[in-house]
Amino acid sequence: MKLFTKTFGCQMNFADSDEMVREFAQRGFSRSENEQAADAVLVNTCTVRDHAEHKAMSYIGSLKPWKDDHPDRLLIVTGCAAERVKDNLKKRFPFLDLVVGAKDIESFPEELDQILNSRPLQEENLIPLPLAASLGSASPVVQFVTIMRGCNYSCSYCIVPQVRGREKYRAIPDIVKDVEIRLLEGAKEIWLLGQTVNSYQPPDPPFADYDFADLLRDVNAIAGVKRIRFMSPHPHYLTPKLITALAECENVCEQIHLPVQSGSTAVLKRMKRTYTRQSYLQGISELKKRIPKIALTTDVIVGFPGETEGDFAETLTLMEEVGFDNAYCFKYSPRPGTLSGSWEDDILTEVKEERLGRLLNVVESFGQIKAKAFIGSEQEVLIEEELSPGVFRGKTRGAWKVRFHEANLTPGDIITAHITGTHSRELHGEGVKSQLETFQSGNKKFQVET
Ligand code: SAH
Ligand code: SF4
Ligand code: F3S
Repeated sequence: MKLFTKTFGCQMNFADSDEMVREFAQRGFSRSENEQAADAVLVNTCTVRDHAEHKAMSYIGSLKPWKDDHPDRLLIVTGCAAERVKDNLKKRFPFLDLVVGAKDIESFPEELDQILNSRPLQEENLIPLPLAASLGSASPVVQFVTIMRGCNYSCSYCIVPQVRGREKYRAIPDIVKDVEIRLLEGAKEIWLLGQTVNSYQPPDPPFADYDFADLLRDVNAIAGVKRIRFMSPHPHYLTPKLITALAECENVCEQIHLPVQSGSTAVLKRMKRTYTRQSYLQGISELKKRIPKIALTTDVIVGFPGETEGDFAETLTLMEEVGFDNAYCFKYSPRPGTLSGSWEDDILTEVKEERLGRLLNVVESFGQIKAKAFIGSEQEVLIEEELSPGVFRGKTRGAWKVRFHEANLTPGDIITAHITGTHSRELHGEGVKSQLETFQSGNKKFQVET
């Protein structure tokens, strides 16, 4: 039995897909590279913007002939859009076998068993799934660990709390165990995930003051972890304690994705983001002071209801003031059931597009300047994938991609790279491999750089 997966949306959704793939693997499925060779297709959907939901729905629609060809094939739809339109989904696509909304992900294994039990599994096809790249990353050496689900915020534009529910935290030992398993499987870089990942708190007492900063320190101390990143922190919880942990944990990469959404305090207030332009900039300045090499990325929305030219100009000046390494910029999309979804979407599409264009220009100009500034420097690079024979790609600690034309590399290597040039957002490097030493801790084996 073979499974093909198609995931839309954010890292959290990719991590959910990874978990569901593991459930399939335990039931004898191996992976398929395409739909045609697959006995089952899992579509994990997103609804954050209208366009994202539309893409998922078109994809599901396109699978009708695939299902019609062999009606015993399984078509399973999960995730955030499935949660939003659950009742209508089966009506719109009567050929679906199973729909599991994002809030019900915990019941996925039982639901899967129910539909599989109604279909005999062929014993000879029970091939275990080899460790593959996490669906959201290019490489098995980078793996995700979800530390919390849901969101307790109510940003006025955002549908996520509606489809993912309130925050639920995983227990510290479960998180640590998941990190250790992924390291044993060969991971070098671990991403800790949550919608507002730095609002993490342990679900059980007695860890009264334990927070995300403490969790980072605990994960940092796990033998064998070389790199730690996390997504997405909320500016509200960028505490001095967290900044100190970021500065002190040697395996936490000098990089942070801190969504700002707008540079105008008036817009931020209507977005219910709980911080101001000034307090956001204060946080950034603290980060730069404590971690001078820190790479900064963000999310921005243009054309939020009532956004004036003056508000947008403030977003541009904020971008210039911070000098982000990169930014993910979106046109506002009203979502049903959200607070701003009930307001007039008063910024014309042309205006949104024009503002988006201007914003992207600023982001790209900074990107070019930053990329060029790396030329001549030495960077620590984790090799993630072999693109073609002898051509490798990895990332710096600041998450910049580096390409190498060198035969003697292997994904998982951590090397010192001399940056020789750039091509758009990608750096070119020549690598010096460091010595790797193997050591044993209990019954586990680890490789460390010397
Ligand atoms: N939990 C994360 C964001 C998750 S959604 C956080 O709080 O930062 C990812 C990004 O999508 C958001 O940061 C925002 O920039 C964008 N987004 C969310 N809702 C949107 C909407 N209705 N229209 C346009 N962009 C939106
Ligand atoms: Fe959405 Fe805001 Fe929650 Fe992020 S913090 S998921 S933007 S409601
Ligand atoms: Fe999309 Fe759900 Fe993520 S709506 S952005 S997949 S939390």
